[in-house]
Amino acid sequence: MAAVVLVGAQWGDEGKGKITDFLAEKADCVVRYQGGSNAGHTVEVKNEKFMLHLIPSGILNPDTLCIIGNGVVVDMQEVIEEIKGLQKRGIDTANLRISLRAPLVIPYHKKIDAVEDRSSRIGTTQRGIGPAYADKINRTGFRICDLLADRNFFKEQFKRQVENKNWILEELYGETGFNPQELLAQLMNQVEVLRPYLADTSYLVYRAIQEGHKVLFEGAQGTLLDIDHGTYPYVTSSSATAGGACTGVGIGPTSINRVLGVVKAYTTRVGEGPFPTELHDNVGILLRERGAEFGTTTGRTRRCGWLDAVILRYAARINGLTDLAITKLDVLDSLPTVKICVAYRYKGTLIYEFPESGSILKQCEPEYLELAGWQQDLSKITAYEKLPAQARAYVEKIEELTGIKQALIAVGPQRKQTIITRTVFD
Ligand code: IMP
Repeated sequence: MAAVVLVGAQWGDEGKGKITDFLAEKADCVVRYQGGSNAGHTVEVKNEKFMLHLIPSGILNPDTLCIIGNGVVVDMQEVIEEIKGLQKRGIDTANLRISLRAPLVIPYHKKIDAVEDRSSRIGTTQRGIGPAYADKINRTGFRICDLLADRNFFKEQFKRQVENKNWILEELYGETGFNPQELLAQLMNQVEVLRPYLADTSYLVYRAIQEGHKVLFEGAQGTLLDIDHGTYPYVTSSSATAGGACTGVGIGPTSINRVLGVVKAYTTRVGEGPFPTELHDNVGILLRERGAEFGTTTGRTRRCGWLDAVILRYAARINGLTDLAITKLDVLDSLPTVKICVAYRYKGTLIYEFPESGSILKQCEPEYLELAGWQQDLSKITAYEKLPAQARAYVEKIEELTGIKQALIAVGPQRKQTIITRTVFD
C-alpha cells in the first residue's frame, strides 16, 4: 500500500508536473487536492508539450484514475476545454473524476479577482481563485452538486448571489456586472457536459487506498504559497502544504505513507513579495533563460535566485517531508560556482528558521555557502554515480541541510531524463 503526497517545497513552479507525470506511470490513481486553474503544469512526452491547469498530470497515462478532489475550486469551462484539448491529441479522458463537492469558480470570481488585484497588487493569476475560496469560507459559494440537486432552490440562491456580485462590480468598482439568467444557463450546460465525470471522489480514493492501490496526491503551487504557512499575503488562497491533501480529498492523515517534496535546484517566484536570494545579475538572467522561467498560466517572467536551504528546512518541517525530488539540476550546468543560502542575517544576527512576517523577510540578507560548479552537461546522465562529483556534492549538501534524502533527480524536461535513487512507490 502506498499513498504519497507530492508538494512543492518553494514558491511553486518546482517542476511538480514532470515528477507527477513520471510517478503517474507507476501510480494507479493521481489526485489534485487544492488550488484551481491557477496551477500550470507542463509535461513533455515524445517531444510534445502538454499544458494542464486543472486535470492531474496523470491523465497522460491511460490506466491511471485521475481525480479532481473537493479541495480544488473548479472552473467548469476550463475543465471542458482541457478535456477537449487532450482528446484532440488522442488522449483518453475516460478515467477523469471530479468531486461533486468541489466549489465552483464562476465568471464573476475571475472579474472580481482581476479588479481587486489592481489595488492589492498580489499579482494573482486572475483565475478567480481567491474570490472563489472566499465564497467557500463565507458559505456563499456554490458547489458542483448544487447544480444537480433542487434546481428551483438553486436558481433563487444563484440569482441573489449574482445580484450581490453585480453590486460589488458596478457600485464599488464601476465595472459591468453579469446577467444571472445567462450565467445560470452557461453553468447548467457545462455541468451536463461534465456529468459523466462527476463522483463522490473521497469514496473512490478511500477505496483505492483500502484495496492497496498506489495513490499519488498532486499538490499545486508550493509551501510558501500556502494560505497558512506561506509568505502571507503574497500567497494563494488554498492549503498547498501536505496537510491540504487530507481535507482537500476527504481522507485521514493515517492514510498517507510518504511526502515527497519537489525542490528546484535554484529558487523562483512569480508575482510580488520578498525573496532573499533573488538575483538581479547575469546569473539570474541565465537561470531564467536556461530554465525557461516563464509562467505556464500567465506567461509572466519568473524571478530567479540561488537555492535557499532556510526555505527547504521550513518546507521539510511543515510538510513532514520523507523524500526530495530535485528538479532542473541541469540548468546550473554552465556555472563555475553555485551558492546555497544556509541562514539569513537579520539586524546583525544569523537566523535559521523561516520568519513569519514579510517585513522581517524583506530585511533578511542571505548567508551563502559556495560550492564548485560542474560545468558539464548533465542532460544525458541516467545514474546517480555517473553525475560529476561536484553535482553530487551539491545534491548531498541539500540532503545534509534539510535532513531529507533525495529519491529523484531531474536533469531535463523529458520523462527519461530522471535519475532514480530510491523507489517512491514500493
Ligand atoms: P492566485 O493563486 O491566482 O490567487 O495568486 C496568488 C499568488 O500565487 C500570486 O503571487 C501567483 O503568482 C501565485 N501563484 C498561484 N499559482 C501559482 C503557481 O502554480 N505557480 C507559481 N505561483 C503561483
